[in-house]
Formats: sequence, structure tokens, C-alpha cells
Amino acid sequence: MTLKTATNAHAAPKIDLIIDTDPGADDVVALLFALASPQELNVRALTTVAGNVRLDKTSRNARLAREWAGREEVPVYAGAPKPLVRTPIYAEDIHGKEGLSGIAVYEPGKGLAKGSAIPYLIDTLKSAEPHSITIAMLGPQTNLALALIQEPGIVQGIKEVVVMGGAHFNGGNITPVAEFNLFADPQAAEVVLNSGVKLTYLPLDVTHKILTSEARLNQIAALNNNASRLVGSILNEYIKGDMEHYGLPGGPVHDATVVAYLLKPQLFSGRSVNVVIDSREGPTFGQTIVDWYDGLKAPKNAFWVESGDAQGFFDLLTERLARLK
Ligand code: BDR
Ligand code: CA
Repeated sequence: MTLKTATNAHAAPKIDLIIDTDPGADDVVALLFALASPQELNVRALTTVAGNVRLDKTSRNARLAREWAGREEVPVYAGAPKPLVRTPIYAEDIHGKEGLSGIAVYEPGKGLAKGSAIPYLIDTLKSAEPHSITIAMLGPQTNLALALIQEPGIVQGIKEVVVMGGAHFNGGNITPVAEFNLFADPQAAEVVLNSGVKLTYLPLDVTHKILTSEARLNQIAALNNNASRLVGSILNEYIKGDMEHYGLPGGPVHDATVVAYLLKPQLFSGRSVNVVIDSREGPTFGQTIVDWYDGLKAPKNAFWVESGDAQGFFDLLTERLARLK
């Protein structure tokens, strides 16, 4: 069976985009990457969720990323402070107490937008042109799940949901089989999956193939602007944990792969699959079960990205960071 190279389903002049995020070191890199790409991405809003750290910190870190990108016109809406059903978990061991490894945080100049992310999502998607809005999902999927539960009809406004999450070939990063974003709120991911939206997953299978190297970090550092210094400081600290834990030669920048996929899907390949999310208590809680070989002949409900061009990713990231101050 051959792998299909991902095609750009977003050939429209600009992708109308909402970024749902739990910053998070790699989230911040993803946000800088996206906000540096206004030619292709019309970022309507950032919506924040509890995940890597608590909601007040993820919301502050999203506002910091917005400030660092010089994009204060983009509203930041804070969303769900906890998962749908399960007890909250955080990843301070990886991202640091403040949710941002390698740099000092502070209160940004501009505050949050008024109102919660959930009514924002409902109102925006309800009044949107049919299938016009893409949602980049960089954390637990709680916000969109809550919006879908309240107003199932909002699927009409969604063009595609692109998720960083899940793991099949790679195994998990929070349990032997579960990836953090899915483990942090599997019930929410199930709601999104069952809504029937067009869904693309960038799991650990691909993010663990797109690793930093000394040369790649040097190419970012050579930009010598504020954004490159921030990304360098964040990544140099962030990658240590994964390199040590997995014995990898470099570290993944998980969430930023979603932005690269939106900008240049030809860098990635994958396959339409049937995926099931395990939300039962037990050792497989949060696992994504992917029928890669179509043994079940079950309906395909997601595009599962399995590999990507690592150097192409870092070249694109570097090119975009060069556009920031
Ligand atoms: C995912 O989990 C979070 O810690 C990262 O920000 C990323 O979204 C990787 O498993
Ligand atoms: Ca994240």
C-alpha cells in the first residue's frame, strides 16, 4: 500500500484559522510560527485550555507569544479550566512550573478578550460560511468538545480540525500507549471525533521524526532576532527531557508541526484511517487505536500523518521566524 502525500485541502488564498492551545513550550514556538505567516494564515483568535499547566498560565503564555510576535490585534480567549470528565493532569515536569522552559515569563501588556472561548467558538462557527474555518488543536480538545456538546450544529462552520496528538507506531509519551493531549482529555477527543468533522492527526509517529539538531538550532540562532533568541532558549531547554528519556539525537517540536502542515502539507505524508480513542479506565486510557492496514474495513474518520520532511520543517520555521523582530 502506498502512502499518500498530503494535499492542500486549504488551497483558498488564506486559511481562516482558530488556534486552540495550552502553552506550553512547543505551543509557543507554534504560535510564533503561525503568527509570522499572515500571508497564508488568517489567525482569527487563540483559544486557551488547561493542559501543560493551569489555564491562567496557558492564557498568559498565549498572550506572551502574541506580544512577541507583534500581533496584539489577535484576541486571546480563555476556555476550559479542566477536562470534561477526568481529573486534571499537567506537564510541569516537561514545560516548567510556568509552562515555558528556558525563559523568564512576565505579565504581557494586553489582557484576555472578554468572554470564554466556548461561546466564542459557538458564535464564530455558527455564523461562519459553511466549512470555512480550520481549527488547529495544540492541546487537550476540551474547548471544542464543550462547544460541540452545547451546539452540535457548529460543525457546519468547520473546514477541518488539525490535531497534534495521539500515537500509534511510536507508543505513548505519558503512558506506554497514550500521548499527553489525548490522555489529558480522551472524552473530549472522542466528542470531536464523533462529531464527523474532517480530522487530521499529527501524532508522535511524525513529531518524533522531526527532531532538532545542532545544525538546525544554529540555523535558527543565526537569524539573531528576538524571535530566534526566544525560540532558541525555549527549545534548548525543552528538548533535553525527550532526548534523555528516548535516547533521541534531538528533540521534537510537536505543536509546530501542525503549523507546518497547514502551510506546506506537501512536507508530510499519511493515510486516511479509522481511529478509535480509548477512554475506558485502565492501562490503555487515552490510547489512539489506528487501523493503519485497514483490517477492519471500518469507515475512515481521520487522516493520520505518519512521516514528514524534517529539514523542510526546520527550513520553513527558520524562514518564518526571520520575518519577526
Ligand atoms: C503534546 O503534549 C504537550 O505537552 C505538548 O505541548 C504537545 O501538545 C505532545 O505530546
Ligand atoms: Ca500543546
